[in-house]
Amino acid sequence: MKSTIGLMAAFLLFYIYVYVNAQAAGNNEAPEAAKCADRKKAVLLLRALNPSAGDHFYTTNATEMDIATRTLGYVAEGNAGFIFKDHIERSVPLYRLHNLTTIDHFYTASAKERDSVGGYVYEGIAGYVYPEQLCGSVALLRGWSAQGTDHFYTTSDVEMENAILHVGYVSEGTTGYVLPG
Ligand SMILES: *[C@@H]1O[C@H](CO)[C@@H](O)[C@H](O)[C@H]1NC(C)=O
Ligand SMILES: *[C@@H]1O[C@H](CO)[C@@H](O)[C@H](O)[C@H]1NC(C)=O
Repeated sequence: MKSTIGLMAAFLLFYIYVYVNAQAAGNNEAPEAAKCADRKKAVLLLRALNPSAGDHFYTTNATEMDIATRTLGYVAEGNAGFIFKDHIERSVPLYRLHNLTTIDHFYTASAKERDSVGGYVYEGIAGYVYPEQLCGSVALLRGWSAQGTDHFYTTSDVEMENAILHVGYVSEGTTGYVLPG
């Protein structure tokens, strides 16, 4: 009898221990999760290619994309994932530049690179991306074709690998982190 009560007390203490720890873990996770923006705030980064100019173009503005595909020789190529239209916690601007001579749209999250690249006109902020792999984001990879004077962005390792192996692009690393499309 005595040992049964002892055993029950031991179990009770064990459950209290597990419960308190679960609460503590929950409390630790809550502020971390709260920093991730609502996915509903993210918008598609639309993607198109102008085959004759050899230019990949990206915008969150559906009207602008519509004009590009209807009148400027661009062909819609889906999207490059979701980014944020407005600044959200822990995000950084994705700057958009344009070389009107070589017809190349160029995107970078580095203000230093934006300011130091020659021959490009700064066209403003395309949207906001994460500077590191946060909140379920994936790398937006950047490739460059000197021959085609084209900056190319994709979240697909396979597609970038193919562009490098077969289309003459070189890897230029990761531009930022976006939510998968
Ligand atoms: C979207 O693009 C259209 C066409 O270029 C432009 O008139 C409009 O102001 C843009 N909207 C935003 C929110 O930038
Ligand atoms: C961009 O255009 C300039 C002329 O404005 C040209 O000299 C330069 O080579 C171009 N840059 C790239 C990277 O192609």
